[in-house]
Amino acid sequence: MNSKEYLKKNEKKRMRELYEFLKFPSVSANPVHKKDIKDCAEWVKNHFKNIGFKTKTYPTKGHPVVYAEYMVDKKLPTVLYYGHYDVQPPEPLNLWKSEPFKPEIRAGYIYARGASDDKGQTFAHIKGLESIIKTTGTLPINVKFLIEGEEETASENLPVFIKKNKKMLKADIVVISDTSQFNKTLPAVTFGLRGLAFVEVFAYGPNRDVHSGSYGGAIANPVNILCSLIGQLHDKNGKIAVPGFYKDVKNIGKWEKAQFKKLPYNEKLYKKGLGVNSLHGEKGFTTFERSWVRPTCDVNGITGGYQGEGAKTIIPAMASCKITMRLVPAQDPKDICDKVEKYLIKIAPKSVKLKVVKHGGAKAVVVPTEGPWLEAAGRAIKSGFGKEPVFMKEGGSIPIVGDFKQLLGIDTLLIGLGQNDDNIHSPNERFRVIDFERGCKTAAALPFELAKVK
Ligand code: BES
Ligand code: MN
Ligand code: MN
Repeated sequence: MNSKEYLKKNEKKRMRELYEFLKFPSVSANPVHKKDIKDCAEWVKNHFKNIGFKTKTYPTKGHPVVYAEYMVDKKLPTVLYYGHYDVQPPEPLNLWKSEPFKPEIRAGYIYARGASDDKGQTFAHIKGLESIIKTTGTLPINVKFLIEGEEETASENLPVFIKKNKKMLKADIVVISDTSQFNKTLPAVTFGLRGLAFVEVFAYGPNRDVHSGSYGGAIANPVNILCSLIGQLHDKNGKIAVPGFYKDVKNIGKWEKAQFKKLPYNEKLYKKGLGVNSLHGEKGFTTFERSWVRPTCDVNGITGGYQGEGAKTIIPAMASCKITMRLVPAQDPKDICDKVEKYLIKIAPKSVKLKVVKHGGAKAVVVPTEGPWLEAAGRAIKSGFGKEPVFMKEGGSIPIVGDFKQLLGIDTLLIGLGQNDDNIHSPNERFRVIDFERGCKTAAALPFELAKVK
């Protein structure tokens, strides 16, 4: 039996196992789930152990890291796989058609929080490697597998773990599947991700909620003020109005521009898929440029005042919001947070007290667009998906990719198995069954292709 036959034979069992993985509510952002996260890490560890990996969970200041390795021969290339077992909060729960942590298949999709981001994609690699081990008794490469539990909260403790374990993590190339294909019929390799900077803004007004009839008109309403501040983050051309925001932003080169132009784009379908009548963004840039290589500034959530049943006429005591900036290469998260803070404090009226809490973030990354590793990935994708991948960038962030390069000197291959409409971070997250299957096939072919490189 070869690995593809093994995958075919074990299709049902594999899906049952993925369900087990998806059932853990491993929400890293919410301390309530600390135990679930730990249980999930243990489950992943035991799974590796049963396949024949040497494996261990490592505690961190936050959630544990699962590390597993399968060393064959020093002369073979060593591949460091990375994934994350933590997931985004599932809220709002009422919009889910099935429960987020009770996976089910409907019309060719596995529905569950984490199905695509990133349990399903990571699991495809584990199962691909398993299929080789079970059919050949070994692997054609050395494998080190790092699965963390804090990616969705910006991987705060992972760099420390990497610095402490440089020797253990030494490898020739990193492989990550935590991105998307270009579309349902076109697989992709991603050559760049945006970075992220995160701030929280608090606007304080009166020392308590007060009657809006008695005091309305005489004092500032923190919700009104916060909204006005948010309104001043962009100018009328969609440019970010924070002074110095674009200082380090460079225009993309000819090759990159041409590369994006080559990709099929249907604006009508794009709008239809999102249910919007028209698009919105920085003037003078295409949709791909706006979402992959231009920086952004967006409110993720806003809170303040009364939102319960019926009317309650008050001037709220406070309002707050969470804002994230997507960054492009050379922009520094800390510098951007400082600039945003300075600007907001400067434009805020004296009638509210403004507090900006800066959380930092991650730098944008660019990975190689040519070379033998990339060619190997291309061949593996061809074998799994039946098509050569296209090259694209993506707008999301994977904070640790930059550290792999800076701390360990290793480049990354971003092999997307998901789709843009997998609803990651949204209600009804899903992963196409066929993408999971093709992903497993790709993962089973990849080690043989990577083995040819060194
Ligand atoms: N898998 C995503 C990153 C991603 C999303 C890549 C879309 C390509 C397209 C990852 O799990 C993620 O959501 N990252 C966070 C990082 C943040 C919390 C620092 C993000 O991008 O918001
Ligand atoms: Mn992810
Ligand atoms: Mn995510």
